Amino acid sequence: MAACLTLTWALFSLLFLLLPLAKSQQGGGGGLYFPGFKYAAANISLAGIAKIQPANGLLELTNHTSRLLGHAFYSSPLRLKTSPNGSALSFSTCFVFSIVPEYAKLGGHGLAFALSPSPNPAALPSQYLGLLNSSDMGNFSNHLFAVEFDTVQDFEFGDINDNHIGIDINSLASNKSTAAAYYADDGSGKVDLNLKSGKPNFAWIDYDSRSTVVNVTVSPNSTKPSKPILSYKVDLTPILDEYMYVGFSASTGLLASSHYVLGWSFAIGGGGSRALDLSSLPLLPGPKKNHRSALAIGLSVSAVFVLILAIATVFYLVRKMRNADPIEDWELDIGPHRFSYRELKRATNGFKGKELLGAGGFGQVYRGTLVNSGAEIAVKRISHESKQGLREFVSEISTIGRLRHRNIVQLLGWCRRRGDLLLVYEFMPNGSLDKFLFDGDLKKTPTLSWPQRFHIIKGVASGLLYLHEGYEQVVIHRDVKASNVLLDAEMNGRLGDFGLARLYDHGSNPSTTRVVGTLGYLAPELSRTGKADALSDVYAFGAFLLETVCGRRPIEPKAPAEELVLMDWAWERYREGRVLDVVDSKMEGQFDEREVLMVLKLGLLCSNSKPHQRPSMRLVMRYLDGEAEVPESARAQEALEAERGRIEFEDFINSFASSSFEKMGSSDPSFVMPVSANSPPSFPYGYAGHTR
Ligand SMILES: *[C@@H]1O[C@H](CO)[C@@H](O)[C@H](O)[C@H]1NC(C)=O
Ligand SMILES: *[C@@H]1O[C@H](CO)[C@@H](O)[C@H](O)[C@H]1NC(C)=O
Ligand SMILES: *[C@@H]1O[C@H](CO)[C@@H](O)[C@H](O)[C@H]1NC(C)=O
Ligand SMILES: *[C@@H]1O[C@H](CO)[C@@H](O)[C@H](O)[C@H]1NC(C)=O
Ligand SMILES: *[C@@H]1O[C@H](CO)[C@@H](O)[C@H](O)[C@H]1NC(C)=O
Ligand SMILES: *[C@@H]1O[C@H](CO)[C@@H](O)[C@H](O)[C@H]1NC(C)=O
Ligand SMILES: *[C@@H]1O[C@H](CO)[C@@H](O)[C@H](O)[C@H]1NC(C)=O
Ligand SMILES: *[C@@H]1O[C@H](CO)[C@@H](O)[C@H](O)[C@H]1NC(C)=O
Repeated sequence: MAACLTLTWALFSLLFLLLPLAKSQQGGGGGLYFPGFKYAAANISLAGIAKIQPANGLLELTNHTSRLLGHAFYSSPLRLKTSPNGSALSFSTCFVFSIVPEYAKLGGHGLAFALSPSPNPAALPSQYLGLLNSSDMGNFSNHLFAVEFDTVQDFEFGDINDNHIGIDINSLASNKSTAAAYYADDGSGKVDLNLKSGKPNFAWIDYDSRSTVVNVTVSPNSTKPSKPILSYKVDLTPILDEYMYVGFSASTGLLASSHYVLGWSFAIGGGGSRALDLSSLPLLPGPKKNHRSALAIGLSVSAVFVLILAIATVFYLVRKMRNADPIEDWELDIGPHRFSYRELKRATNGFKGKELLGAGGFGQVYRGTLVNSGAEIAVKRISHESKQGLREFVSEISTIGRLRHRNIVQLLGWCRRRGDLLLVYEFMPNGSLDKFLFDGDLKKTPTLSWPQRFHIIKGVASGLLYLHEGYEQVVIHRDVKASNVLLDAEMNGRLGDFGLARLYDHGSNPSTTRVVGTLGYLAPELSRTGKADALSDVYAFGAFLLETVCGRRPIEPKAPAEELVLMDWAWERYREGRVLDVVDSKMEGQFDEREVLMVLKLGLLCSNSKPHQRPSMRLVMRYLDGEAEVPESARAQEALEAERGRIEFEDFINSFASSSFEKMGSSDPSFVMPVSANSPPSFPYGYAGHTR
């Protein structure tokens, strides 16, 4: 073994001596030329997590760490105008980049070539690509010109898809964008280019000051197609400063990609930039595509062998440790546990249909028993084709793995196998609350008594309060409803399915780009702003209170017209002083009238269409504990307004009911609605229907 290592080391040293010494140098016409960045440390100013890999000179802008950015600009500003008041000069650039996503097919977020007044702009990661922040977006004083290679579709900026190229001026809402592709000169027309393939891509950006046109061209190889994929007429004179920093910026979001630049050339004037040759550029890490020599092959084979041996040893040790020990409490404290696929396969009897507990929009839930500890678990298997599912998965691990509360379904761990994502939860023997509330079959699911319901309600309230205030970050559930409330052996209500939860820090603005939730529980402001916050959870909690007391769904198309929308029906009866009419008849009048009245009033209060008139979960908890009195006539004023919108609203519900009710309800109860500035989906008063 020792001899082998020595030999490997000797071969490595030899290889470095033999390697052609690539050097940065000024190109023809005073341009920049970096065939790799190995000797460019003095010429490139790096910021964020950007680094030049010392071994091979690969410029790494970001790695697989979430929500970070990397900047790499040429260290001195370049003169792009002849004088402060002169017009912008022509320029050309060529570079080779590669985007290696953490999860195949899911990018995060993208890379941009930029002309910027600063080599390290005060910018945000994620959708801002490290170029701008939320306060300077679109400001003419930014003096920013960028070409983005974006692999995430941000509705906020009107992105066309998750694989596009765009020209950005002072903003990340592109002035012009196109799906990534190139026009092949061999006559095969337009060919799609996958930016996230992990392979090197060539890009050219040319600005001509006479015609004032920016052209962007991409290709999978060094042959520049003669027709650009993006051509945009813009005079850069008012946009650029006399001196500009030239370089690259990249960022990661919830999902991350490694963004690399392999080589770069840049030239001012009409002469064009120097061509780059892939064979003289650094290699990308990971599976090697082209080898410099047979020596390198031999080397990588022995390196791979050593690596495999090391991995196998580590793997063996880890497995041994894991097999010996059930999950310990301290392990849970570190974060969610990573299970092996075999362990879960054995636990669920190979994901047999017999063990299937249910199927949701994103995948199936199986029951299982861990072989080592005998602990019962529920395994949610997320179907791999659903991108949304994967996003959900990642957010679930980082969020709920660390949440701990007796009214929350604990995430024990996770596992990923190829495209399959598996989440392991505590097993909830009594299943979900909606079965008890809405199922007609009394033998399978006995009617819940009022004390049981009240106990569940208090539990869910306390779980939601924990999410909103008890954790270091505000966690928005986004999908509070009876079918996401699970019942443990003691019939405690526990909130589950945090797949849609997103974290945001206390105090900062929740920014989201789409409405996630279930129709019938969506707060009205969500359809306008798309911003979920604690108060939109309170709205859904209000709908949950009403459905728990009344034993029916928020919107029931089979009900008579006046009872269609539970909330309105309850309010109507409340005004008439007959609110107990709406109480679930299955309870046969066996309930504490004072408590039921209080919960109904609270339900109406929480589902106020004006967010600021809803109570916080802390206040809700005080009402439920009887420490404070729920105020009367919560919706009196609003009811008058609602009256005005009634006709409009019923038209909407009717048309919706006839077309999409059935489809929506049975297959996928969750609903994702993109929000864009141009077409805000408007639901009158936010009562959008959902049923099963
Ligand atoms: C890089 O920096 C060195 C040292 O500052 C300088 O001599 C050299 O000209 C620079 N090269 C380029 C291409 O700017
Ligand atoms: C990414 O880079 C940062 C800074 O260099 C480092 O702290 C982090 O561990 C890296 N992450 C990964 C996944 O390599
Ligand atoms: C540039 O224009 C500004 C106002 O437009 C003027 O005040 C300034 O003198 C000009 N500078 C030069 C060098 O021409
Ligand atoms: C946003 O960017 C501008 C311009 O770079 C900067 O002045 C400002 O401080 C930044 N704001 C934040 C909140 O980072
Ligand atoms: C644009 O930025 C400048 C300087 O940072 C600032 O004074 C101005 O108020 C900003 N304009 C807008 C519309 O935000
Ligand atoms: C496009 O570019 C111009 C500057 O030429 C800018 O004022 C405008 O706001 C940009 N944005 C869009 C979306 O067109
Ligand atoms: C941009 O592309 C067009 C063809 O689409 C071409 O006529 C023009 O010369 C190109 N301009 C530059 C600066 O490359
Ligand atoms: C580059 O790709 C184009 C289109 O796929 C192809 O026609 C051309 O032959 C390739 N050139 C080289 C040098 O591989």
